Amino acid sequence: MAILEILQYPNPVLSKKTKEVTDFGDDFQKMVDDMFETHYAQKDCAALAANQLGFPYRVTVIDFSEDKNQPLCLVNPYIIEKHGETNTHEGCMSLLNMGYHRVVRAERIKIQALDRYGKPITLEVDGFMAKCIQHEIDHLDGLVYIDRLGLVKRKLILHKITKARKKNKS
Ligand code: NI
Repeated sequence: MAILEILQYPNPVLSKKTKEVTDFGDDFQKMVDDMFETHYAQKDCAALAANQLGFPYRVTVIDFSEDKNQPLCLVNPYIIEKHGETNTHEGCMSLLNMGYHRVVRAERIKIQALDRYGKPITLEVDGFMAKCIQHEIDHLDGLVYIDRLGLVKRKLILHKITKARKKNKS
């Protein structure tokens, strides 16, 4: 297994829609293992999408349990029902040191996906899990959460990123 680098916004890979998984063989299993290992190596990480690690596939790994012992891998996930609305803070491993910002999401969702071996799963979730899965599915569709913020807020964050980059270079 390997701990991989997490791509940082605005890396163009993060803005590209991912491909559905059709092959659940050894290479895919290794990729999922590496995703989990990278996830568990981070501080305060709830979930990672495959494209954050440079893999162009529709896969996310999730675990925000205290003991890091509730791994959930969703392959080809899609939201099939949305209910209610929340507006809570989110951060992202691809926007490190950019803080947390409020994002409007559905409060409760029903999703369809496959597990890492290709077995179909249907989940109905709310609370933090619902927010987390919506954030990850956005990644898989080529969106980061700041794409869902207003223009002014997004510009402020982009300005901060550019400034931080310049500082690192000099
Ligand atoms: Ni993220």
